[in-house]
Amino acid sequence: MDLIQELETLEREGREAVGTVRDADALEALRVRLLGRKEGRLTAILRQLAQLPPEQKPVIGAAANRVKDALTELLETRAAELEAESGGAAAGLDLTLPGRTAWRGARHPVTLVVDEITAVFRSLGFTRARGPEAETDWYNFVSLNTPLDHPAADAADTFYLSPGVLLRSHTSPVQIRTMQAFQPPIRVLIPGMVYRRDPFDASHAPGFEQIEGLAVDEGITFADLKATLAEFARRLFGPAAKVRFRPSFFPFTEPSAEVDVTCFLCGAKGCSACKGTGWMEIMGAGMVDPAVFEAVGYDPERWTGWAFGMGPGRIALLRYGIPDIRLLYESDTRFLQQFA
Ligand code: DAH
Repeated sequence: MDLIQELETLEREGREAVGTVRDADALEALRVRLLGRKEGRLTAILRQLAQLPPEQKPVIGAAANRVKDALTELLETRAAELEAESGGAAAGLDLTLPGRTAWRGARHPVTLVVDEITAVFRSLGFTRARGPEAETDWYNFVSLNTPLDHPAADAADTFYLSPGVLLRSHTSPVQIRTMQAFQPPIRVLIPGMVYRRDPFDASHAPGFEQIEGLAVDEGITFADLKATLAEFARRLFGPAAKVRFRPSFFPFTEPSAEVDVTCFLCGAKGCSACKGTGWMEIMGAGMVDPAVFEAVGYDPERWTGWAFGMGPGRIALLRYGIPDIRLLYESDTRFLQQFA
């Protein structure tokens, strides 16, 4: 029998055999018998090619390739049929296996509050800015009208990295950096971490978040500050929220105030969170002291402005009823997951 005939026989028998195969294992065994590289029938035919006269080789070779392609296609078609008959991949699915939990990321509760506050001020025309957490004592204190012999600058209260360099104890130095980089009008909101040598206990953390606000322009008054913060309180805590200003002192503002908002937990009725007063202190604020404008080279006769600083962490603790500030900084996913 010449090789062409052998190839034709192989193709015919292969075609018949493929039709009778009932499962994937049998199909694979058949593939090996027909086309397997070592023992397959096609390989056996091709081995005889070597003994042929050279002019016949290309003819037989081409015929062998055609048969190989035809059988390969038959085998693949049959494999697809068997797969479909068995119900596809689903047939191998064990529906009793426990599922894999798809963990969803969650924004940190303080981030939630910071983002909300940022959105309110953005709608009032403020942009967001940032500054370095390692600062010089000039930016953190001196430029803010706070002499270095002020108790806040003491090494007992502030983390010094080296002489004159410290972890910022508030976000106020970014007021200075913003005014150095831009000319008025300025309306900027500055969230970030600040650091103080406080204990790490239920109500203190050595690092926590602040949000600084600064507005500088011609003709800005305390009335603008009051109106802006009153609107801020309504947007963040609801239309019934009110603010009140109590006289206070900060070196970088004059006059200065502590700002309270009606308790957003009890609706100002009086509860344990507001100690029965109906008010919660949420920030310090005031009119930018002329000495601060002088430190950045602004003309204090021309420009006025106001600033505030608040702690979004405290608002998050109150709002979500978190009993211990350490929960905010321990990165325990069982705690954080609740905010997903
Ligand atoms: N820097 C102050 C603090 O850390 C908060 C503050 C008070 C910021 C009054 C201000 C301000 O900008 O005007 O306690």
